[in-house]
Parts: sequence; structure tokens; C-alpha cells
Amino acid sequence: MGEAPVHTLDDGTTLPAVGLGTYPLDDAAAEEAVAGALGLGYRLVDTALNYGNETGTGRGIARSGVEREDVRVTTKVPGRHHGYEETLASFEESRARLGLDYVDLYLIHWPLPRLDKYVETWKAMIRLREDGLVRSIGVSNFTAAHLERLERETGVLPSVNQIELHPLLPQEELRAVHAAKGIVTESWSPLARGREVLEDPSIAAVAADHGVSPGQVVLRWHTQIGAVPIPKSADPGRQRENLDLFGFELTEQELTTITSGRRRRFGGDPDSHEEF
Ligand SMILES: NC(=O)c1ccc[n+]([C@@H]2O[C@H](COP(=O)([O-])OP(=O)(O)OC[C@H]3O[C@@H](n4cnc5c(N)ncnc54)[C@H](OP(=O)(O)O)[C@@H]3O)[C@@H](O)[C@H]2O)c1
Repeated sequence: MGEAPVHTLDDGTTLPAVGLGTYPLDDAAAEEAVAGALGLGYRLVDTALNYGNETGTGRGIARSGVEREDVRVTTKVPGRHHGYEETLASFEESRARLGLDYVDLYLIHWPLPRLDKYVETWKAMIRLREDGLVRSIGVSNFTAAHLERLERETGVLPSVNQIELHPLLPQEELRAVHAAKGIVTESWSPLARGREVLEDPSIAAVAADHGVSPGQVVLRWHTQIGAVPIPKSADPGRQRENLDLFGFELTEQELTTITSGRRRRFGGDPDSHEEF
């Protein structure tokens, strides 16, 4: 396998170019998947309080035998815990479940603008970073307007915005905003959940030309546009495939072909989606 490059975040920490998603694995399945993936060479793991698998994720990390300092663990504060004190308390719950002294990357899971508490939540994230309990802070599902408000009201930008991003939703405008502000883009549902994109004939043709799988083509597209995909797989063979992305390179033409199909969002609209 070619070496996976790393991104340097605006706070000086590093983030591997690809990670492992864990939704919707339960604790037992997450423990297996995370331990197996770390054994294969993954060094970035994505969970959330709302996935109900932080305990299993933490057990998988412990069982893997990989040095704590070498793993980047991400978790997220849910909508029902928005607010300053609520976020500090939610973080302690997550940290206890994970069984860790610190979390590498802590994200606000959704902005919930109608609730209008994401700025207070962000202030608590800043405090957690100052206290050394979290190495890096970021958000998920934030629009350009939400990012600008955090910057205006706190002076601190997220290091990462984890957004729905795949060939059916390439997010050119938001990625340009991230690039201008020095925010790293993480892609959730990077394989568009595995079906129609992976069966697309034009993607299959690119895969055949490179002697790789359609999943590898789609994940390589993410890395070449500068985004960090976090594909979920509980299957050791597909986990290995999803990490083996750096032995081939897509051409500009191929990058364009991959996003030439129709547009579709699988998850909620960040301006209105409410998930507590
Ligand atoms: N921040 C947010 O709001 C948010 C929202 C959704 C998801 N996420 C995060 O993003 C992660 C990934 O998103 P996702 O799970 O929705 O979708 P995804 O990673 O795009 O797709 C996962 C599906 O694709 C299959 N798969 C994985 N690798 C494959 C390959 N190489 N070839 C064929 N099929 C493959 C998996 O099955 P097998 O397990 O059988 O391989 C699974 O059914 C989640 O696990 C979660 O950590 C975050």
C-alpha cells in the first residue's frame, strides 16, 4: 500500500487522509471493526455520542494495541446537549464511555439553527481545547453562514467541518469557503452509502482502467480534492480496500467524470435538520 498522507490542521495537529466511520455499528460490532481497522493501519476513527457505540469504539482502540498517541479519535456533541454547561457535561460522558484521557477531535454534530445554541456550544468547545481535554475542535453539517457566525462571535474558526460529500453532492461552494478559511473538509457518507454510485458505469470504467474497485476510485477522488473520507465498513476486506488509495492517481478528466452524474443529498439539510 502507498503511504497515507496527513493533513496539518490550523492548530498544528495532524489528521490522516482517510478514516473509519462507525455508524450504525453497535458496541460489539464497533469494537471488532475498530480493532480490526487499526490493525490494518487506520489511524483515524469517527464516532458520536448519538451512534451509541463510544464504549465499543474505546474498547476497540484499547484492544488494538496501537499507541494512544498514534490514533485520532473523533466524537460529537448531540443536539440535546447544545449549550455551554451541557456541552461540558456531554463531553465528560463521551470521554468516560471512550475510556480516554483526551479526545483528538470534538465536533458539534449538527448546527440546529432554530435552537440557536451553537455559538454557546462552540464556546464550550474552545474551553475544552484550552483545558487540554480536546486536541482539536470542529463542527459538522455547518453551512458557510454558520461558520461565519462562529468566526464573528468568537474569533475562533473550526479546524474541521465534517459534511455530507460524495460524487452526487460534491459541495464545490462550501469546499471553496473551507479552503479560504483554512478549514479541513471531512466527508461523511463518502461512498454515498455504497449502492448507486458504486454501480455507476462511468465510475466502474475508471476503476477498470486503474485496476482498482469503484469504492477505491470514489475514495481516491475525495483525497485528490483535499477532503478526508471516513468510509464505514465492518468487513476486513473492504476496510483494507478503502485504505489502499495511494498507489494510483486519477487524471483531471477522471475527477470531472466522477461528478458528472445527477445530484442527490442522502442526509438532512443543515438549515432545517433537527437531530437531538
Ligand atoms: N456527521 C454526520 O452528520 C454524519 C452523518 C452520517 C455519517 N457520518 C459518519 O460517516 C461515516 C460514513 O458514512 P456512511 O456510513 O453513512 O456511508 P458510507 O461510508 O458512504 O457507506 C457505507 C456503506 O458502504 C459499504 N461499503 C464500505 N466500503 C465499501 C466498498 N469498498 N465497496 C462497497 N461497499 C462498501 C458498507 O458496507 P460494509 O460495512 O458491509 O462494508 C456500508 O453499507 C459514518 O459511519 C459516520 O461515522 C456522519
